[in-house]
Formats: sequence, C-alpha cells, structure tokens
Amino acid sequence: MINSTLRCFTQKGPHVSRHFLRFAARFSVASLAAVLSMAAMACSSAATGAAEAPNALTTASPVVVGTVQADSAAPARGNSPVAQAPADPALPLTFSGQEALRHVKHLAETIGSRESGGAKEREAARYIEGQFALNGYQARQQPFQFEMYEARSSSLQANASGAASIANSPLHFSQGGKVTGPVVRAGMGRPEDFPAGGLKGAVALVERGTLTFTDKVTNAAAAGAAGVVVYNNVAGRFDGNLGRSGSTIPAVSIAKEDGDRLAGLLATGGLEVTLDVDAGKQQLQSQNVVAQAGDGCRVVIGGHYDSVPAGPGANDNASGTGVVVELARVMKPVAAAKQLCFVAFGSEELGLWGSRRYVEGLAPAEKTAMVAMINLDMVGVGETWRLFGSDSLSGPALASAQAAGAVVDGFSGEGRAGGGGSDHASFIQAGLPAVFIHRQNDPNYHTPEDKAQFTRPELLETAGKIAVELVSLLVSG
Ligand code: BES
Ligand code: ZN
Repeated sequence: MINSTLRCFTQKGPHVSRHFLRFAARFSVASLAAVLSMAAMACSSAATGAAEAPNALTTASPVVVGTVQADSAAPARGNSPVAQAPADPALPLTFSGQEALRHVKHLAETIGSRESGGAKEREAARYIEGQFALNGYQARQQPFQFEMYEARSSSLQANASGAASIANSPLHFSQGGKVTGPVVRAGMGRPEDFPAGGLKGAVALVERGTLTFTDKVTNAAAAGAAGVVVYNNVAGRFDGNLGRSGSTIPAVSIAKEDGDRLAGLLATGGLEVTLDVDAGKQQLQSQNVVAQAGDGCRVVIGGHYDSVPAGPGANDNASGTGVVVELARVMKPVAAAKQLCFVAFGSEELGLWGSRRYVEGLAPAEKTAMVAMINLDMVGVGETWRLFGSDSLSGPALASAQAAGAVVDGFSGEGRAGGGGSDHASFIQAGLPAVFIHRQNDPNYHTPEDKAQFTRPELLETAGKIAVELVSLLVSG
C-alpha cells in the first residue's frame, strides 16, 4: 500500500499532488496511515482519470477504485427476484459512464415517468434495490408516508335568477366541501369587520389585502362562516395560498369584477350561493432504497429517483440515480471499511420527502458519525458543473472536481441562494454537512423532453469521478 501510494505520488501530475497534500495538511488529527490510504484511493482514481483534462466534457477514461474481488455475500447476477438487466459480470471495477447510462435508460425509457408516490416509482425502487443486491449489498427499502394536497375542481354558483356561475380558484390548502348559504360582506376579514350577529352559516365575502389569507379565513371560520370567497383588490383573478395548516372551511378566490358584482347584487337584496370545493389531502406511500455495506454511514451518496409526471425524468433524476448505483458497484470493495451508504430517495419532487424522512430516521449517534452527504441530481445534461453545499466541504469538493477534470463555476455555500431544491437541503437543515453536485441549464427540465437520449455518459462519468475523489478525501479506511 505505502509503496504503491508513494509510486502514485511520483507518477501523478504536480497539480494533483499539490492539491492533495494541501488538503491532507488541513487534517491535524489525521494519522500517517489514514493519509496514505486516502492518498492511495485518490491516486488510484486520479491516475487513470483526466486530472489534466482541459475540458470535462471530453473526459472518458474510467476511474479505478479497487481491484476485482470475489464477494461471497453477493448473490449470483441475475438470480435476484427484483433484478432486471444485470450488469455484465466481466465488467471491471471502474466507473463506467455507459453502465450509469444503462440505468438511466432503464429508469427513463423502460419504466418511464416515475411520479412521486406512484406505482412507477415503486417499480423503479424494485429495480434499484435489485441492482444494489446484484452488487453485493444488503439492500432495503425504507417505506414512508406523506401527505399531498390536491385541489381537483371548484364551483361557485349564485342561486339568484340570472346570476351564473362565477369563475374561482380554491385557495391552496383550502378544505374541501360543499356549502350553501347567504353571502355576507365581511370587509377585510377582521373580526371588527363582521356583522354584529356573526357569520353563522354564511359564505363570507372578503376583500383581498391587509391580512393574510390564513387570518381572513381563520377569523371567518371562528365567527361561524361556512365558506369564504376572497375577491381581488385589483382587476382580474389571483391565486392565494393558506399555508400547510390549511383551513377548516372551503375558501376560494375570485376576480375583483365578480366581487363587485356580488356586492352589487347584495345591495339589492339577499343572495344565496353554493360553494363546492373538491380538494383535500391525499396520503401517499413512497420509499427510499438504501444500500449499506458496513456498520454505519459516514458518507451518504444519494440522489432522487422519482420524476415529475410531465416527463420521463432522464436527467431529473435518473442521471443522478444511475451514478449512485454505478458508484455502489465500483466502490463495493471499500464500502464496508469506509462506511459508505448509497441511497436512492423517493418523492423528492413533491417536497424532498424521501431525504427528509431518511434524516428524521437517523439516531443522534448516526448524525454525529456522518462526515458528508453527497447529492447527485441532474448530472447528465447542461452547460456547466455547479457545486453547492456546506461551507466546511467547499475545499474538498472543489479539489475533487479539479482532480476529476471537471470545470466548475465555483462553490455556493449554505448561506447563498441557488441550491435549496434538492435532497442535500434536508441534510443541511438537520445540521449535517452536504454537497450538491449538479449541472445547470437543462433546456428540458421538467418537460416530456427530459429523455435518456440527451443524457451524456461522459458527464455521468465525471460526476462519478468527483464523488469518488470526494469520498477518498473525506474518509480513510
Ligand atoms: N432536480 C431538481 C433540482 C435541480 C434544479 C437540480 C436545477 C439541478 C439543477 C429537483 O428535482 C427539483 O425540481 N426541485 C424543485 C424543488 C423541489 C422541492 C420540488 C426546484 O428546484 O424547483
Ligand atoms: Zn425536479
């Protein structure tokens, strides 16, 4: 080990050696053995990689992370009940962009769109679990539930002769239900705006402005209203939001013009309306897929595998998932000793649910032991590499990108905008260090055109190299 490490140092370009030594020097407690073993891994990955490559886009050489080993714990390829399209058993333990692309194709083309909480997401989970198992992991699914609010339709019908239905939109997170009652003007929705007798059984007609929608609807409900109609204070319609706590009665928004019309009708006599909102919370079932080789997870390498319903989600995020699965394969020989865990997160697209649930499930000791989470999301398309994450990881992350031959347009730290919308955020929010590796400017983001044919294997490979470098810098063993 020491000999090969030293040989490697002398063979490597001066630039890689410098970056590694500078980094190693920052580890005040690192033992010589640990430094050397980190160096060996950095060496083995950089030696055949494109550390000197001027442009990451042309990188194609494989990353060697270990030697081929017989693993008695690994099931025979193709025997797993959930495994499909097993990897070629003759494949060397080098990161292959083509192998990662094979997973992208399976997820985005064979399975297709993998809506959060849906049957296709479950099918994808079984595929990923099977691939982990084929590579010798005790893979498991971590099921979880989450609530999704959905407003399906709404109608507002004035029951006076000649008064037609009124265009409206449910306030987001409004309670569903059908109510009929007299319209009662309720000003801005403050208790002092309400008539002396309260709003019992009424549909309160409230003007937009001054108070939050939540306060307006909560006040009206407390005064006995059966429903709320908020009319705009400028011309046209609008969409309002009540926040996650929602409401106890149906509430919709309408245009200022319609609000004025209702107020006019009210002035000439009583007016009864029927408000019908078909909306509510749906309980959805999803799952993370976890491959763990050792006793714990010092580094979590993850990415989400669900997609938006609009498209097949090849780049967002079969690309990151394919890289995670391929990383699990090539890092198997060191995964137990380094305590690496590979996680495919479910239902990211509806609010980072999988990563939030994963982090919630960690015991305090597991959190303390975690050195980093590496999030791979949208790594197969786009113009430039971007890194985002915990300030403490900016040095190793930038060094890893450089060693992998990736041209990066900087590192955005936690305090800065631009990186909140993916699974690393769940870790950072829980105080755990995380790095987000992605490329920006995918023209097909969240569209039906997010297809596997646009995924570039050389980019998947560079993403894999960055992760390999980062692991080797962060964890000895
Ligand atoms: N994959 C994206 C995040 C992303 C965007 C990565 C651009 C790389 C470049 C993710 O699936 C997504 O769509 N996130 C949402 C927010 C999320 C909470 C639904 C977003 O960024 O708007
Ligand atoms: Zn997305």
